[in-house]
Amino acid sequence: MAAAGCGSPTPEPADHPEFENMGIDVHSYSRPEEVAVRHLDLDIKVDFERNVIAGTASLQIDNKTQSDQLHLDSRGLTIQAVRLEDADNQVSQGSHEVGRDDPQLGQELILPIEPDTRTVHIDYESSPEAAALMWLGPELTADKAGPFLLSQSQAILARTWVPCQDSPKVRMTYAAQVEVPQGLMAVMSASNPQQVSEDGRYSFEMPQPIPSYLLAIAVGKLEFQSLSPRTGVYAEPSVLERAAWELADTEKMVAAAEKLYGPYQWERYDMIVLPPSFPFGGMENPRLTFLTPTMLAGDRSLVALIAHELAHSWSGNLVTDSTWNDFWLNEGFTTYIEHRIMEKVYGDEVEEMLAVLELEALRESLASDFEDARETWLYLDLQGRNPDDGMNSVAYDKGHFFLRMVEETVGRERFDPFLRGYFDHFAFQSVDTAQFVAYLRDNLMAGDEQLAQDLRIDEWVYGPGLPENCPEPQSTALQQVEAQLQALNQGTAPADLDTEGWTTHHYLYFLRNLPQDLSEERLAGLDAAFSLSETGNSEILCQWLGVAVEHDYRAADQALEAFLSRQGRRKFLMPLYGALVDVGRGDDARRIYDSAKFGYHSVSRNSVEGLLN
Ligand code: BES
Ligand code: ZN
Repeated sequence: MAAAGCGSPTPEPADHPEFENMGIDVHSYSRPEEVAVRHLDLDIKVDFERNVIAGTASLQIDNKTQSDQLHLDSRGLTIQAVRLEDADNQVSQGSHEVGRDDPQLGQELILPIEPDTRTVHIDYESSPEAAALMWLGPELTADKAGPFLLSQSQAILARTWVPCQDSPKVRMTYAAQVEVPQGLMAVMSASNPQQVSEDGRYSFEMPQPIPSYLLAIAVGKLEFQSLSPRTGVYAEPSVLERAAWELADTEKMVAAAEKLYGPYQWERYDMIVLPPSFPFGGMENPRLTFLTPTMLAGDRSLVALIAHELAHSWSGNLVTDSTWNDFWLNEGFTTYIEHRIMEKVYGDEVEEMLAVLELEALRESLASDFEDARETWLYLDLQGRNPDDGMNSVAYDKGHFFLRMVEETVGRERFDPFLRGYFDHFAFQSVDTAQFVAYLRDNLMAGDEQLAQDLRIDEWVYGPGLPENCPEPQSTALQQVEAQLQALNQGTAPADLDTEGWTTHHYLYFLRNLPQDLSEERLAGLDAAFSLSETGNSEILCQWLGVAVEHDYRAADQALEAFLSRQGRRKFLMPLYGALVDVGRGDDARRIYDSAKFGYHSVSRNSVEGLLN
């Protein structure tokens, strides 16, 4: 279908076959409109001998339609027993049956319930292969002092360690009793301990209702350091001080976000710096952002990641996308807010530099990464696909520039209160794309025909690529980098370039825009002048190693192999393995992968394997 013309009324779901699934979560077997889970009590033991989580999940339900069945998501769970508890706390034996089964979606659990059933108790055990969980031996941790467990539930992996209604449309509160080996600390996306318990038992509470993809746990030799009365960081002892230094601006960021979008609703904002196997930069687990250690650059230059995960406390955790087709409502809004926080804390120059870099990458990605233009709509169609496929520049960056366009068109004096009102209005609820567009129409456009034409909402949301009214950020800092790129092109030796005062992002822009034609000598000159192969800055290193592979600069091979072997962040693995395959070094890629994969989480393994096969 062609994009709807500018200014035409927003298409309604019913008019368009593409919108058949609007608001329907095709990635969950659950039926929350019949029976909804409202609260989860977990009583579990973390077993590092067998690499399983075992115990009881007790689900309090709201049976809205007098249904005689509860439908849950599970994947690879062993269900040992089911008990039903009624309003008078009478417990009777229950049962379960497996319905549909699918490699991605897992097994549909069908549990017969009685009209007066209030709580369903499920004794279960996860599989050692549970895709959300990564069980690390001490050798994969910083201090090598004990084993480590970390989880990654988004998008549809919570069901591999907890039987639940694994859909972002369903919210529940939760509490957990967790037993771990003595000497280890357990933390969750909930109220957390700050000290190791004597007996290895911990209790958690999450009194605000959350969707299942925000269920999270980490267990290891951890310590806590406070950063401000309501923020702090967990890490292994040898990492803690560096982490606390890097994250020192967190409180300023929380305060900046609150000024824009209202009170922080989750009490504490803590972070945990995980072992390098964590597959993402960050994950917005409520009260406890999960972080890669590769963001510890030593100069606080990569803290936009914190602004991003913190922003999810509004966009995502407070107001949640209804389905993974609406993923841009989480990530596009979050990327927009991330930029607003960065601007407030570090100034426009810094923010605009980030925006220019982002738009450059977005344009490149739109030009080459998508086979089907449908994939470049903000509103996705992920039926039959892994929702992870939606994690690309469209949801994040096209989403961000869409909101920035609306902001620039109506002005901040109108847009800021609008967005704040949106978070207030939909707080602790889930929203689909059509609902957001309707809210925007009613509350911002309010019948203004001219404005409707200027915004081109349909083109952005239900159309491909970047519409013409996309904002164009400007960065004078990057113009200076342009000048040095020109000098380089005209023969100036790398060591003679004027790079005084350059930060990480100057270098990233520089490396991304190097001329195509680079001799080995030139590459060696760049490497020597800026110590690129040796840099401890993971973003710069990744960018440089990509250049090195592309130009067959073999002097960087050792650094490449070391980098791919010491961390498992998908964002760094994919371009580098991809570059090796592209230049015909698939055999090298496979060899490195085979020895490094033990340090990669299943999310990263699946992506890299997809590329190598
Ligand atoms: N929520 C995402 C991570 C995610 C998305 C995990 C989809 C699984 C499925 C997180 O907030 C995120 O966006 N992380 C980015 C941060 C970056 C854009 C600043 C990352 O890890 O790269
Ligand atoms: Zn995000």
